[in-house]
Amino acid sequence: MTEPEETTPEPHPEKPSAFTARRNFIQFGIAAVGAAWAGALLQTRLFPVQTGVAEAQPVQFPLSELPVGTTRQITYAGQPAIVLRTPESIKAFSLICTHLGCTVEWQAANLEFYCPCHDGRFDQFGEVTAGPPPVPLESYPVQVVDDQVIVGETA
Ligand code: FES
Repeated sequence: MTEPEETTPEPHPEKPSAFTARRNFIQFGIAAVGAAWAGALLQTRLFPVQTGVAEAQPVQFPLSELPVGTTRQITYAGQPAIVLRTPESIKAFSLICTHLGCTVEWQAANLEFYCPCHDGRFDQFGEVTAGPPPVPLESYPVQVVDDQVIVGETA
């Protein structure tokens, strides 16, 4: 009678051993960190971070294009902004939420700005009325000269 040959048990071909699984996990982790690092490096090379906001040039348009009770969206300093005309005044605000920078929406029916990201709300004067925004919306100077609305600093 022959003794069965003593062999090392082969791991199940479809189920890796604990060593193989740990090694694969470590290799995957190293690859993921390397890919993230390479991606970040590539992004900074392809899309260098711009320092500062675009230089703010005044925005001008005819007063007749902003009847009382209406708004006009503009781009000011490279950012979306809005000009509101009420019976009492004309005001301009950035549409960038002061919480985490989402774009707020003007809701004329409620006379408020609404930020859909975290339910932030601002009144028609840009003051925070609800949600996490820490400070009011940024406002811009507005003047009317010769029936022209001018948003922003003029020299
Ligand atoms: S980004 Fe506007 S409430 Fe958070």
